[in-house]
Amino acid sequence: MPGEGERKISLVGATNVDRVEAPVTLKAYLMCAFAAFGGIFFGYDSGYISGVMGMDYFIHLFTGLPYPPPGATSDQRAYFTLPSWKKSLITSILSCGTFFGALIAGDLADFIGRRITIIAGCGIFIVGVILQTASTALGLLVAGRLIAGFGVGFVSAIIILYMSEIAPKKVRGAIVSGYQFCITVGILLASCVDYGTQNRTDTGSYRIPIAIQMLWAIILSTGLFFLPDSPRYYVKRGKLDLAAKVLARLRGQPIDSEYIQQELAEIVANHEYELQLIPQGSYFNSWHNCFKGGLRKPSSNLRRTILGTSLQMMQQWTGINFIFYFGTTFFQELGTIKNPFLISLVTTLVNVCSTPLSFWAIERFGRRPLLIWGAVGMFTCEFIVAIIGVTDGQNHAAVSAMIAFICFYIFFFATTWGPGAWVVIGEIFPLPIRSRGVGLATASNWLWNCIIAVITPYMVGTDKGNLGARVFFIWGSLCVLCWIYAYLLVYETKGLTLEQVDRMMEETTPRTSSKWVPTTTFAQEMGLTDKGMLDPAIVEDVERKGSVV
Ligand code: BGC
Repeated sequence: MPGEGERKISLVGATNVDRVEAPVTLKAYLMCAFAAFGGIFFGYDSGYISGVMGMDYFIHLFTGLPYPPPGATSDQRAYFTLPSWKKSLITSILSCGTFFGALIAGDLADFIGRRITIIAGCGIFIVGVILQTASTALGLLVAGRLIAGFGVGFVSAIIILYMSEIAPKKVRGAIVSGYQFCITVGILLASCVDYGTQNRTDTGSYRIPIAIQMLWAIILSTGLFFLPDSPRYYVKRGKLDLAAKVLARLRGQPIDSEYIQQELAEIVANHEYELQLIPQGSYFNSWHNCFKGGLRKPSSNLRRTILGTSLQMMQQWTGINFIFYFGTTFFQELGTIKNPFLISLVTTLVNVCSTPLSFWAIERFGRRPLLIWGAVGMFTCEFIVAIIGVTDGQNHAAVSAMIAFICFYIFFFATTWGPGAWVVIGEIFPLPIRSRGVGLATASNWLWNCIIAVITPYMVGTDKGNLGARVFFIWGSLCVLCWIYAYLLVYETKGLTLEQVDRMMEETTPRTSSKWVPTTTFAQEMGLTDKGMLDPAIVEDVERKGSVV
């Protein structure tokens, strides 16, 4: 058996644009879908902490305050709470870790591979969780959350990259939406576990919700251990024989089938094309490449990086985490709701149950219409909530109507912007900058997630901005911006291979992108021999450059 790189690889190139991807078996679909499980981390980790910080035992242990007596007045109960700075530190330190984790992971994924980076993320996460579980004071808890956040950053960025790169084009949107579905399940699981342990009067009250997360990491890393890495990663590293081998596994086809050859030839030819436009160079140069090409050219690397990072920022600007982080407090302050926890359980359930609709809608209607119409749906609901709130916010029936519209709003988010933002960031970057681009975009999601978590209490706190339902005017206005943004800037990427997306962004504008159809293949343009083989010089060049990256 020849060693890596020893075997001379020759590839049949496709001239037919429909032949650039192999047909796929059910087993292959399931392999691609498994990685979505990583979403559970994201959701659970952002979801469990608010419940834990409200638990009596936790407050008592982490503040030293005596328990409020039975029949305590509302003032006594209000006093028995974590100070705001502790809440803010405990919550936001995770996003700080995830922010840096996502950036670093983008780097690592090009060196050690997508799959191993995710497995490493699971390992780091487990260390962080063990520290948090062991903690009985603030220092260790915060350190544990920072380290766990690092791991979540690794997982959340690289799962998107991995899934987008291994999924077949017809179902790529649906498969990446599966990741969003797992995020929503994670949030739901977190509130159920919190609910189950909140009244315990021992360390189990917070240790159980924290420790349980190790299970997600163990399942994901064990599963990934048996899955292949992304063929595009191997192409980037110049290991084309390995790329062919994993592609054959992922598509469930024999390695020497023409389909596998043609799909690989297309990935190789596209990579060579991109390298000619922007050569790789040193480590710093490869980061610098994410910001090259200028602002004027819509397909430049800089524009794609701005598109990815701003799309994730806009996703946070929809205000969704206001509901998931502060929903309980908001409903309590409305005054008419007896069981705020139940209402927040309902909103979480609406989120879980609506998301699967996106599996179908994202492939049926495409990314662009989903983001445009999703924003319209969200701002309509948010403005209605705000208007009801300021006109008749104390009335029981009005509050029920507000809750109903908040649920419609979540429905719109869960079926459009929730999955859509993740799907699009996995698709818009060319291979030479893809891992860093996705890392940057994911880091932007966590950064804005954190900023919103920090400033929202000041906007709605009764002792601060006290905006009450008026805060929905702000979220509604931001959703209007999301609508304009999607209309002007988001490309339609449905049904294209990642290489075709790359070409489409060069040849069209967001508004005309849905009409774009591929007319040539990269293999054809970069050079096919008269026997229909990809020019061996390209293959050699990609192998040589990959080995020095
Ligand atoms: C967002 C999260 C949000 C979740 C809700 C994700 O796509 O990035 O911030 O909490 O959706 O389902």
